[in-house]
Amino acid sequence: MRHLIHINDLDNKEIEKILDTAKQYKQGIIHKSLENKKIITAFFENSTRTLSSFEIAGKNLGASIIRLDVAKSSTSKGETLRDTAANLNAMQPNAIIIRHSDAGSGYFLIPKVSCPIINGGDGAHSHPTQALLDLMTLLEHFGTLANKTIGIIGDIKNSRVANSNIALLPRFGAKLLLIAPPHFMPPINLPKTHNLREAIKQCDAIISLRTQTERHSRQVYGSLQDYASDFCITSDLLQQHQTIILHPGPVHRNIDISDSVLEDARCKVLQQVENGVFVRMAVLDFLINARS
Ligand code: NCD
Repeated sequence: MRHLIHINDLDNKEIEKILDTAKQYKQGIIHKSLENKKIITAFFENSTRTLSSFEIAGKNLGASIIRLDVAKSSTSKGETLRDTAANLNAMQPNAIIIRHSDAGSGYFLIPKVSCPIINGGDGAHSHPTQALLDLMTLLEHFGTLANKTIGIIGDIKNSRVANSNIALLPRFGAKLLLIAPPHFMPPINLPKTHNLREAIKQCDAIISLRTQTERHSRQVYGSLQDYASDFCITSDLLQQHQTIILHPGPVHRNIDISDSVLEDARCKVLQQVENGVFVRMAVLDFLINARS
């Protein structure tokens, strides 16, 4: 039984296979390979893109989706997450997709279930399908990541998207540059800067991240507006550079990325959302039909 909690649960060959399948789906070559399969989505944290993307992905392949209404679930009555998982598992789903504020929550559900667990984001730890769709979007644009410099800007320290991309992109040849003020910089050994204007000149792509205010125990910066004056990607900074801009959403408009850059052809945010559905279809097919 395979699960996807961390991006390193997949080796490079498996990732290439998943991206090939996603590409075929994008070209319209779709078999209903999940007909008669049941997928439960259990999102204990808010979500716009990831939840709907997984649900559309499952439906596109013919699966039935059962969404746990967490506000009305027994977890809110004191049931442990493990017991909730064991009870959901007794209804014999073919996969459970979970989003939870506790880092690593997927790992402790694994012993309680007999189907794949897929992590839709766990605290600040990991968001593997977001990194896969980012990789797909980057590869669509560049063909290869060899010798490409990818900047990651924003609240890197508290971002599961950053963690998953830091684990994944170098495996496909990318060089990383972390761009953040000191309080958002993680203590890891990668090239770092706080000078966005200079960073844009070096980067082939920049992944912008939202300030994860819900994960700050206290406000560590003056205001989002102060942060934006140094770290918002604007047309003035982007100029004529070929750098493309990604963001997992939700975007803090004019804090992370300016209105004009959001409208710019170099901004790939909606292409990421589009690719997310195809990547998640491929992940569901890979794990549920155990295509290894
Ligand atoms: C991110 C998340 O929830 O981890 N969004 C997403 O899944 N597309 C990023 C965020 O919340 O900032």
